[in-house]
Amino acid sequence: MSREEAFLELAELAKTAARANLAYYNDDDPVISDATYDHMKRRILALELQFPNLKSEDSPTDQIGAPVNSGFGKIKHAARMLSLGNAFEDEEVWEFDASVRKFLGLGSEELAYSVEPKIDGLSLSLRYEGGVLKQAATRGDGAVGEDVTKNALEIPSIPHLLNVGHDAPWLEWIRSSQSIFEVRGEVYMSHLDLESTNLEQSAKGLKPYKNPRNAAAGSLRQLNPAVTRRRKLSFFAYAWGETSSAFAQTQMDAINNFELLDFSTNPLTKLCKSVEAMIAQYRKIETQRATLGYDIDGVVYKVNDLDLQRRLGFRSTTPRWAIAHKFPAELAWTTLDAIDIQVGRTGALSPVARLKPVTVGGVVVSNATLHNEDYIAGRGNKGETIRGGKDIRTGDWVQVYRAGDVIPKVADVDLSKRAATAQPYEFPHICPDCGSEAIREEGDAVRRCTGGLICPAQAVEKLKHFVSRGAFDIDGLGAKQVEQFYKDGWVREPADIFTLCTRFGSGLQQLKNRDGWGDISAASLFDAIDDKRKIPLHRLIFGLGIRHVGEQVSKLLATHFSTWAAFESALTRAEIGAGGEWDDLLNIDGVGAVLAQSAITTLQQDGERASIDRLVAQLDVQPAEKPASDSPVAGKTVVFTGSLEKMTRAEAKARAESLGAKVAGSVSAKTDLLVAGPGAGSKENKAADLGIETIDEDGWLSLIGDA
Ligand code: IVH
Repeated sequence: MSREEAFLELAELAKTAARANLAYYNDDDPVISDATYDHMKRRILALELQFPNLKSEDSPTDQIGAPVNSGFGKIKHAARMLSLGNAFEDEEVWEFDASVRKFLGLGSEELAYSVEPKIDGLSLSLRYEGGVLKQAATRGDGAVGEDVTKNALEIPSIPHLLNVGHDAPWLEWIRSSQSIFEVRGEVYMSHLDLESTNLEQSAKGLKPYKNPRNAAAGSLRQLNPAVTRRRKLSFFAYAWGETSSAFAQTQMDAINNFELLDFSTNPLTKLCKSVEAMIAQYRKIETQRATLGYDIDGVVYKVNDLDLQRRLGFRSTTPRWAIAHKFPAELAWTTLDAIDIQVGRTGALSPVARLKPVTVGGVVVSNATLHNEDYIAGRGNKGETIRGGKDIRTGDWVQVYRAGDVIPKVADVDLSKRAATAQPYEFPHICPDCGSEAIREEGDAVRRCTGGLICPAQAVEKLKHFVSRGAFDIDGLGAKQVEQFYKDGWVREPADIFTLCTRFGSGLQQLKNRDGWGDISAASLFDAIDDKRKIPLHRLIFGLGIRHVGEQVSKLLATHFSTWAAFESALTRAEIGAGGEWDDLLNIDGVGAVLAQSAITTLQQDGERASIDRLVAQLDVQPAEKPASDSPVAGKTVVFTGSLEKMTRAEAKARAESLGAKVAGSVSAKTDLLVAGPGAGSKENKAADLGIETIDEDGWLSLIGDA
């Protein structure tokens, strides 16, 4: 090879490597596989060795490590970062207010809420120690986020130092060098800044960002903080995490106090004292939406009184004291090219509309869910008519909509544009993947493949679910890879993942030579798998992919049972509808009969169970952490009876559970404590017979420190 040829090839390779790095780090959207990247680097190295003078100063071979990690450190949030429940209709706002009142035992007295625009960016938690910004973390999965401190320091509206130079009593403690103050809010990019960012992207031959939210996320998650600085991000403060002392009595005070400390807060924030006023403010903000200069996707209502917020507390992922009222979904018309059937991990046959790509609210949509066969036929869940009874056919002109982050749906069909030859869609009664019969059980809207473990689609979907983010989340083993391993017959069920190394380790070469795998990725895959042998109980439960058992329910189950042994033995022994373990399951707040039945069936089905046992044999399952274990009621089983005067039953139960207690409906030998209010009857007698400690409401409040 001549020097000239080497020069040209090196230049070409350097360009490709730079493009690959940008795509990987900037856009979270890799354009080449690890293997190709490794191969390319080896080629560059070889050429540089042969022609040392041609090595450029910024050669990719001098950059350390292959880009296999996200590159950001992890930060565990001192207080979890939660999301919000959604309301779309006014009616749901009334229901929200009613549920708040019911929980607190309020009548029709005045109850104030703050109304704030819902900024469409990404949330960020800023930790100030002694008034100095020490850490900034993205939300991540709510418990652990990414460390973006250096980048946050480049956002002009984020103070590096809190401004404590005012005269307010609550500022006293913030001034102390020990003070902890976590401010939370939204990082966003204005429309103007998006325009200039995209101009810059295009000038560099890079893809423009599709919307301000992606641009904000991409710009904050930069390994080079100088890029973040150029991108001009902004920040609105609206919430807080850990604070060493109280700093406000109401949400509105909190927002005013953020201003004092030098944060920006949203000027459209307003206090409203009735649901009518809240909805009026929502409408007002909606009319201003287009001229704000940044994206908002709704408004957020928050109970103003922080004491009430504390009493209302949280459900598993959302506060009871706040809700987002979203703006109506965006709509667009397009053609439905085909209806495909996807088989899910539980065998559900889900029809998907393949659409001619169309932009709906800034995002290109090419698929929409069609739910099930009734939906396609124009019938709702209860057999009622939907879309005026219009069915959906291939070739139809359909209106699609997107509400928030949810999967797009088909809202309407234009019958005047339907071809005379169009035929009603015939929903398959045979699984398109394994050919087994697909049946629809009485009362179920969904038709399911009966193939079980023999159905490849179900098996692959189960595996994909198993490696997904909330489950085992194995680095380097995503949906694509498990699909490939399944096709090759290397991995048929989750347990096989953990025996991959013993079966193929010596033949690492085999994996290395595969398309998409390089030296580094193959070696680190086995490490990543080994890493996940030690797995928290809730991730294992979620990973099993039991129908109706989502991430939150898995956490509830894990906290309730604590260990795999306890979980497994209860579900193995439980009989559907037969007291004992069954009642114990239903007693968990958030677990209903359908869910319980599904979990029991899964653990008692021979084939399924054997596969689970093979998996667990490979693992070291970590018991669930008990929440708030320093509370005197943590781990205790408590029963409330009689009437409570200072709080509603729902509040008492929620509070007890947040302190790590189990709340049961009836007294048994397992009960540790009975809280009896006036009018307590047989339960109090039974507790006395069993020698169970009984206290009244005041006794309870002083026990848990709420008196
Ligand atoms: S409060 C515990 N207020 O919306 C509740 N969130 O859908 C914490 N958001 O994760 C959130 N504007 O990223 C709150 N004024 C606002 C908001 C807001 C935007 C985002 C935030 C949150 C998401 C929930």
